[in-house]
Amino acid sequence: MTTAPADSRTDTRTRPAVARTRAELAELLAPARRDGLRVGFVPTMGALHVGHASLMARARAEVGAQAPVVVSVFVNPTQFAAGEDLDAYPRTLDADLEVCAREGVDVVYAPTVHDVYPDGPEGTVVRPDPGPLGSVLEGGSRPTHFGGVLLVVAKLFGLVRPDVAVFGQKDYQQLVLVRRMAADLCLGVEVVGAETVREPDGLALSSRNTYLDAEQRQQALALSRALRAGVDAAGGGAAAALAAARAVLDDAPGVELDYLALTTPDLAPLDADPPPGTEARILVAARVGTTRLIDNLPLHLGAGPAQTDEGDR
Ligand code: PAF
Repeated sequence: MTTAPADSRTDTRTRPAVARTRAELAELLAPARRDGLRVGFVPTMGALHVGHASLMARARAEVGAQAPVVVSVFVNPTQFAAGEDLDAYPRTLDADLEVCAREGVDVVYAPTVHDVYPDGPEGTVVRPDPGPLGSVLEGGSRPTHFGGVLLVVAKLFGLVRPDVAVFGQKDYQQLVLVRRMAADLCLGVEVVGAETVREPDGLALSSRNTYLDAEQRQQALALSRALRAGVDAAGGGAAAALAAARAVLDDAPGVELDYLALTTPDLAPLDADPPPGTEARILVAARVGTTRLIDNLPLHLGAGPAQTDEGDR
């Protein structure tokens, strides 16, 4: 599918082919399917930044230079509740296509709501159920969110039929749930979790960072600082990790904490007394001004002081 050699992509900056409808998408992917190439996929809601670019690079690495990488750009209405930022969510397709071009993406699927939801956003009768994990952490504050995410991801998987799909670890609960859906429903797609990309000062990249003014941008650093403090204290066990993270957040002006949690890597509750070396995940959500931000890091409990690797889950 890719005609330009991999190393000329950044020079030529060939724009990806854009499919506005599922029929156009099918037509663009037909040659790759005929040739038996693996299809790599990065679902997004647009407003693409360096973090998304890293997901595209990962998809390219997974499928190789000759196979197609597809990016979807679709602000999915069913994952926003009333009063959330659906209308305000940034829509920047031209700039998004530039990012995709730089990353050598072959096809961008940028559909209308009607193309994804022909019977309207509420018209899909059979929907994936996120189960109990859909109503804790992010789901505690956003009870309908993961139902909407799984619905659109299932539809996109059906339309793109990828072999590999790459999701960012920043939306860690989403990654865990999508992986679970792919396994439980035998969707035949490998779900890869790519490491969170951070600003040099630690702030996790997010399309919602554009809502922050300069002061809020500084205040938002408390989230990554808290997680880092938790990781640094993890050698002392779960309680020490949580206490260290909480101390940073307690001291953080302008940050309204939603949750700080320490879980297993699958987001299950930790045992009361986990053995040294137990893998865990520390997660935080908070409002800075009106912007809701999330972040997380992996850690090992009781495994000594220095832990720096964000890992690949
Ligand atoms: O992470 C996102 O951008 C969205 O939740 C996703 C996976 C593209 C579904 O709309």
